[in-house]
Amino acid sequence: MGDLNGKTALVTGASRGIGRGIAQRLAQDGALVAVHYGSNDIAAKETVEHIREAGGQAFIIGAELGVPGDAEALFSAFDDGLAAHGARAGLDILVNNAAISLPGHIDEVTPEEFDRILAVNTKAPFFVTQHGLRRMRDGGRIINISSAVTTTAFPSTIAYGVSKGAVETLTLTLAKDLGERGITVNTIAPGFIETDMNAAMRATPEAHAALAAISVFNRLGRPADVADVAAFLASDDSRWITGQRIDVTGGSML
Ligand SMILES: NC(=O)c1ccc[n+]([C@@H]2O[C@H](COP(=O)([O-])OP(=O)(O)OC[C@H]3O[C@@H](n4cnc5c(N)ncnc54)[C@H](OP(=O)(O)O)[C@@H]3O)[C@@H](O)[C@H]2O)c1
Repeated sequence: MGDLNGKTALVTGASRGIGRGIAQRLAQDGALVAVHYGSNDIAAKETVEHIREAGGQAFIIGAELGVPGDAEALFSAFDDGLAAHGARAGLDILVNNAAISLPGHIDEVTPEEFDRILAVNTKAPFFVTQHGLRRMRDGGRIINISSAVTTTAFPSTIAYGVSKGAVETLTLTLAKDLGERGITVNTIAPGFIETDMNAAMRATPEAHAALAAISVFNRLGRPADVADVAAFLASDDSRWITGQRIDVTGGSML
């Protein structure tokens, strides 16, 4: 175990995909990790099992995001989980990772779909951060997961792109506000990572190869490719970096 001994981390959407990878890596580095999920408690329990098998510490918290009272419900479960674990109250590392995607060009997205993706991808991280900051110790870390879609145009997922653009503005603005507390706020912007989110987009070998070819390394990213960067941003090594957007796309679109 490493640098994060004695610290508590909360990773939203840690039941699967990138969030699972980040939760596992932060636990490997010594943090006690709250593994958040929305509905897939079986997958969340698997994440915790993997962490414990590797000698780490974690507990699950379930809370649907994008609904009224979501942040309150999440932190109520978080506080209970810490207490049940016999851990001291408070938070050191918050990773806003949970999100949904939405296919559709500008003429296809309905107002209801737009409201839903903004509620999950933008409003929830905003208020999860607001509630998280009431618990965060000075010197804490906030890591927001955005996407390559904020700097490369993907018209076929326009609402998703809009929802992530706001997250990056949240990072920039909050970083200025929280400097006096020694809290850093940064964005990770992954390219295509092999997770459930894009399974339909790479259903055939040809489609998979086309997505892989977007990176100069000619492969899709893996959750660990993102998790290792999150671990750096969570660590003391990144103390002089704040308000930044880190491109983690394997050199896509160079
Ligand atoms: N995969 C990519 O290529 C890619 C690229 C760029 C950026 N990203 C970003 O990376 C992050 C993780 O993506 P991923 O590919 O790992 O996604 P994923 O495999 O689809 O997993 C999504 C996670 O978010 C949770 N979640 C989704 N909607 C939720 C809701 N309404 N309430 C509570 N939890 C919810 C899910 O919980 P349940 O298991 O309970 O459903 C799951 O843990 C997202 O912010 C995504 O936008 C992904």
